[in-house]
Amino acid sequence: MCGLIGYIGNRPAQPILIDCLRRLEYRGYDSCGLALLGDGIQVYKDQGKVAELQRGLSLNNERTGIGHTRWATHGRPSGINAHPHLDCAGQIALVHNGIVTNFLRLRQQLTQEGHIFSSETDTEVIVHLIEKYYRGDLAEAVATALGQIEGSYAIIALQTGPKKLVVARNESPLLIGLGDGENFAASDAAAILDYTDRVVYLEDGDIGVITDREITIANNGHEVSRQVQQVPWTQEEAQKTGYEHFMLKEIHEQPRVIQNTLRGYLSAIEPVAPEIAANGDIAQVLLLGCGTSYHAALVGKYLLEKLAKVAVRAELASEFNYHDTLLSKTWAIGITQSGETADTLMALRKAKSLGCKTLVITNVVGSSATRIADEAFYIKAGPEISVAATKSFIAQLVAFYLLALAWARIDTSSRERLMAELRLLPNKVQQLLDGQDDIAELGEYLSRYDNAFFIGRGINLPVALEGALKLKEISYIHAEGCAAGELKHGSFALLNPHTPVVAIGAQDNTYDTLLTNIKEIKTRGTPVIALAAEGDREIDKLVDHVIWIPGTTPLLSPVVNSVALQLLAYYAARKRGYPIDQPRNLAKSVTVE
Ligand code: G6P
Repeated sequence: MCGLIGYIGNRPAQPILIDCLRRLEYRGYDSCGLALLGDGIQVYKDQGKVAELQRGLSLNNERTGIGHTRWATHGRPSGINAHPHLDCAGQIALVHNGIVTNFLRLRQQLTQEGHIFSSETDTEVIVHLIEKYYRGDLAEAVATALGQIEGSYAIIALQTGPKKLVVARNESPLLIGLGDGENFAASDAAAILDYTDRVVYLEDGDIGVITDREITIANNGHEVSRQVQQVPWTQEEAQKTGYEHFMLKEIHEQPRVIQNTLRGYLSAIEPVAPEIAANGDIAQVLLLGCGTSYHAALVGKYLLEKLAKVAVRAELASEFNYHDTLLSKTWAIGITQSGETADTLMALRKAKSLGCKTLVITNVVGSSATRIADEAFYIKAGPEISVAATKSFIAQLVAFYLLALAWARIDTSSRERLMAELRLLPNKVQQLLDGQDDIAELGEYLSRYDNAFFIGRGINLPVALEGALKLKEISYIHAEGCAAGELKHGSFALLNPHTPVVAIGAQDNTYDTLLTNIKEIKTRGTPVIALAAEGDREIDKLVDHVIWIPGTTPLLSPVVNSVALQLLAYYAARKRGYPIDQPRNLAKSVTVE
């Protein structure tokens, strides 16, 4: 969602804030702004990207400031609605991520008391409340104001007078970065990696005061100490390093990401889930996620049921939160790359309150989900900047292979065969990447169409759903993922020569039926692109185009197939000339319900 940055130190703040805002842009990019603190507060903000904001700035040497990139929730994207927001007197500036659910009532009340609002945002009530309660100490006023707020927030505030930043969080991510003679506040560590890798993650209810030399944090009126942690990511990982887009870079990182996720876990499968593997007390597993992470959960369901022989439910976190559910002896697993998706956090809390043991599979150390769940499984994908998830999805799949193997009720030789195939996966993905020219051509071919279907069966049905999601989110081609057997129960009405179907095959017990489905589709004159294992001579004769996939065992085929579909979507979007890393209307981390 929105990205926040704050800087206080011994260098001009403006270029640092701009630099960090660029790195935060993937969290939201419909408008942005910054406030610099000198004798007074100067605010620069507008609709559009950080690069445009930067063009309008003149040199400024102030050493304290805050910045924001916005993903609009209350009020359309515009210069007025962009953050920072100021109080009436122009003495306090604030940036915010989250949603104030009681803002209408607060706004009415503050208006009656004489506060004048200039934007349509929920955020503005916070800064007016701080103004209302200010009695000479900004942190105290922030604490009193936040006491009136219902909803979620991460905020950074500054005020004319002594140089300091006041930060606070409740259910939205915020951390403090520790430098030498300078300190930072940010919504995520990737934004400040060029400056420091030492961070303190704030907890819900924390209010911090940051100067260039020290930080103090209080919770519930009492000073607390929070551990300083080292961010396990390098600067290089958070940069494009010569690739045209982050998405392409992240796709290319996947062989190494698979290795990283496997390393340390594969040689010692048992420690992955020691209690769970031994625990006969679990009757079902509940998988919870959103978007791409939900698709990983669907693959996970298939794997756990097949290998661990346990009953598994996979649910959209946003739906799970709103229905009555029976959970007895359930192990709830949240899947979330960012560890900050509001619906997934809520679902994990709900599962916990219903007595479930909880685990989160995530990429971000210190994220909110890791503080809710009993245990965390880190997928070690490195920072993912492109809004469309790629390497985190593949790493989530690998996490599920490991989990299923840890818990597998299969004979030793089958387990060893699967482990051996897993070790070969990075090479298989690399082979596919090395031969991507044909996929690039097919991506360009697909870019000519306005609609497409993706079909799969069994463990490759979630791959079809993910392939369609990838294509639509970055190329804006309408795409639908569908169980191959379901197509003729309705969607067939839409098949014609202008609606290609991408069919995802695997050499398992679904193969023959998929071929039958392809034949049915071809009778409608519909172009078919098939993903098929190298050496498959049957499918070749039926379809218009084939993407050859390096052979692996069918159970692992979702990994290689998904990489092929990521490339297909990438090249379709590239041909159409769209902003691949920041698709319109989307955000990397959806921290509101
Ligand atoms: C957003 C992103 C998706 C992602 C989803 C869940 O919609 O654009 O790429 O799959 O959130 O994110 P999470 O961080 O929970 O995996």
